[in-house]
Amino acid sequence: MQTVHSIAEVQDIVGARRSESLRIGFVPTMGNLHGGHLTLVEKAKKSCDFVVVSIYVNPLQFGPNEDYDSYPRTMEQDQQLLMDHGVDLLYAASTNEIYPEGSENHTHISVDILDGMHCGNTRPGFFRGIATVVTKLFNIVRPDIAVFGEKDFQQLTIIRKMVKDMVMPVEILGAPIAREPTGLAMSSRNGYLTPEERGEIAPTLHLCLSEAREAIQAGETDFDLLRRNAFAKMAQAGFKPDYFNICNPETLLPATHNEESLVILAAGYLGKARLIDNIHFNR
Ligand code: PAJ
Repeated sequence: MQTVHSIAEVQDIVGARRSESLRIGFVPTMGNLHGGHLTLVEKAKKSCDFVVVSIYVNPLQFGPNEDYDSYPRTMEQDQQLLMDHGVDLLYAASTNEIYPEGSENHTHISVDILDGMHCGNTRPGFFRGIATVVTKLFNIVRPDIAVFGEKDFQQLTIIRKMVKDMVMPVEILGAPIAREPTGLAMSSRNGYLTPEERGEIAPTLHLCLSEAREAIQAGETDFDLLRRNAFAKMAQAGFKPDYFNICNPETLLPATHNEESLVILAAGYLGKARLIDNIHFNR
């Protein structure tokens, strides 16, 4: 595995592989890799000949009071994991090149219709930052396919819409949520939790989602009641609930009672972390 830092190196190396007609797969990340990231790599390897992973903690997707400075940066460990998993190229991008004139002076991409809801409501500018950096990374790597996790369901929905609307020549694949044995969705931010928060409280988020799914599948139609129950259970466990929204999985708008397929998106604050999770199912 080669590690490179500049746009020109990525373009040279990937360009050479593309001219040999290899199929290029891409997994964008912010590093501090865990089992969830590695399932994305495995998925890319299955359908591609040459797999590129990027690591870049993107300042544009962090709010002024968020964890940009403290976000875990573990480059050596990440490099080893990617090498062990047969990745071909690691692109460790640098802010000098991604935002040479500062991130606010850069061209921005936003999928307005999906931006302001759920996580975007709590984190203004978050998805604009993501859509902008992902567009730039796509233009640098020019992958045939790119893999994103269903863990970040709203992010995946936004990327799919951006690619479709802007006719970007890349196929987007989604990968299922990788979980710890307790049910907690794997996340770089789980590292902010104390052992007690991580082992005993954090899994409540997934539990609430599973209980709401079971209730809906058993015929419950009062979604507001389900939200109130979930908020109460999260709060009792020690979370400060943020949202628990039962939605149409394509529009992410509140579900009516007609959809066959539903997604429940949830988020809450626990200790130093803000955790998100979701469950996607048919009634
Ligand atoms: P990051 O949080 O590092 O996640 C990189 C990719 O890993 C995303 O597609 C995310 O959905 C996926 N992922 C994270 N945890 C997962 C889990 N438990 N199971 C399955 N997939 C999981 O998401 C980002 O970085 C950034 O927003 C990025 C897209 C790189 C743009 O900066």
